Amino acid sequence: MPEDDNATDTEFDRVLARAIERRAFLGGAASLGTVAFALGVGGIVPHARAATSTFDFTAIDTNTLDTVTVPKGYSWRTIVAWGDPLWSRGKPFDPETRGTPQTQAMAFGDNNDGMMLFSGRGRTLLCVNHEFVNKPAMFGNRESRLPETDADVIKGIEAVGVSVVEIKKAAKGWEIDVDAPMNRRVTGGTRMRLSGPAAGHALLKTAEDPAGETVIGTFANCGAGRTPWGTYLTCEENFDLYFSASDPFFEPDAAQKRYGLRAKDRGDGFARVAERFDLSKHPNEAHRFGYVVEIDPFEPKKPPVKRTALGRIKHENAALVVNGGTGHVVVYMGDDARGEFLYRYVSKGRYSDEERGGDLLDKGTLYAAKFNDDLTGEWLPLLPETVGMTEPDICVLTRIAASKAGATTMDRPEWVAVHPEKAEAYVALTNNRYRGKADNAGGDPMPVNGPNPREGNPYGQIVRWRPANGDHTARTFKWDLFTMAGNPEQHSDAYAGSKNIDAKNMFNGPDGLAFDVRGRLWIQTDGNYSNEKGFAGMGNNQMLVADPVTAEIRRFMVGPKECEITGLCWDADATTMFVGIQHPGERGGSHFPGGGASLPRSCVIAVTRDDGAPVG
Ligand code: FEO
Ligand code: CA
Ligand code: CA
Repeated sequence: MPEDDNATDTEFDRVLARAIERRAFLGGAASLGTVAFALGVGGIVPHARAATSTFDFTAIDTNTLDTVTVPKGYSWRTIVAWGDPLWSRGKPFDPETRGTPQTQAMAFGDNNDGMMLFSGRGRTLLCVNHEFVNKPAMFGNRESRLPETDADVIKGIEAVGVSVVEIKKAAKGWEIDVDAPMNRRVTGGTRMRLSGPAAGHALLKTAEDPAGETVIGTFANCGAGRTPWGTYLTCEENFDLYFSASDPFFEPDAAQKRYGLRAKDRGDGFARVAERFDLSKHPNEAHRFGYVVEIDPFEPKKPPVKRTALGRIKHENAALVVNGGTGHVVVYMGDDARGEFLYRYVSKGRYSDEERGGDLLDKGTLYAAKFNDDLTGEWLPLLPETVGMTEPDICVLTRIAASKAGATTMDRPEWVAVHPEKAEAYVALTNNRYRGKADNAGGDPMPVNGPNPREGNPYGQIVRWRPANGDHTARTFKWDLFTMAGNPEQHSDAYAGSKNIDAKNMFNGPDGLAFDVRGRLWIQTDGNYSNEKGFAGMGNNQMLVADPVTAEIRRFMVGPKECEITGLCWDADATTMFVGIQHPGERGGSHFPGGGASLPRSCVIAVTRDDGAPVG
């Protein structure tokens, strides 16, 4: 519907409509009413294709190959894969057994995800988390293709968590340093500490931990973050999948439902070996997961710490920035579920190099984002006086607090990335098939709205915001839609995507986001790789890079079959880029990286430029 047909658009819309160049955006959204119309016009990022590109590599085409493809002049090789021992007393990966609890505890975990590199004390440490296990690969030697014995379950528990592994430069480039003193596995069986307002709270007390101060294990770790005091932040996401209930009459209560907890075991069988995962016997155990966990990679004996002040959600990543001018620590965080929220944490204290973090991640205020349809937004504080809950309750039942505050339901917030030089941040909203069709799990409506302008959103979008006055602690911000993913070969309406999407760079399911030192935004996808129907021509999951100024997006990498590309970091001079290849062959259709008839294995690859220049 042409914009002029809509008599109810505002002067603001008209001003914007005149000011920006845009694609005919309303075809698919025309029936959705004035809000969709206004946002369809006003929300599109006001930029056109740059006359001169700032990228110095040739874009690659999509493909459905079972390998990694990078541009001409670049090379890649595998650094470490699931099951590779981190100590010489471990055993090389055995494709027959696919490991034992003992060998897995000594080896790199499965499904590597959020990744950060730390340099110091003459060492370079790669911190990588392991989100879940690729069951068809790990248990493909079992008839059910699931864990069938206690040992199988324990192997799975040892395969998640975090790997800290030292890397060293050899003739061929970076490689892992087996037996290095900082090498460490943190798993689903590692004891760690709870801190912040909810530590010791009644909701966190269990039979095994009557004080509510220590937890065994971290799992479902997705994206990551880092602090300026040199620690790694790993983010617990789909923790609900590991709980089940033995009571045949068990019914989750409203709070458990909000977090996805239910009776049925989803295949990992944790409750089989540890009763604490039985919701009908130990309902508080699930309150002890869903946090941001801080690990000091240079102190292998120091227990990880679950920072309850950052809230309990399905944490995607933790994008931490020290706010220029005030020194407050600000952490942006997405809650990856349909219609959940975008969050911000602002520390009470201010960062100084001497503090080594102190209580900066224990004392502060959580906020949830409200996006207005006029391209403004505000951070809603989650405080006892605003949501009618105690501070510890807010930290444990954060989703419920944000619903009470009236935050905006989003299309599955994945990674947030903060620009290294400018006060602006980006969030990947991966997709939401229920947008405009259903409520979120808490009953909050999910109408088509400003930052989520497409019904049934199959492709996802990247939303950008700029805090008022360049101050990340400010109450208000302005936002726009940096990119709407879509398929211009299949659609000519809103589902074709924004103007910077064309047949050469189309993708779906934006997930991982990271800025390089040159201020360019890398986009990793976890989308539909069927390469058919609405996704025809998109091929395997991929990685692209965007210029935030011109909004040009160029495809840099295509992953192997049935993988997700997730996790990204660089070495100190940016000549090596480390990229995560997660769950290749999740449906049994890949042999990456070994090729031939080998088992598919999640891995970290190193990408370099053949002339030795920085990557990108
Ligand atoms: Fe683990 Fe939301 O991706
Ligand atoms: Ca993700
Ligand atoms: Ca995802």
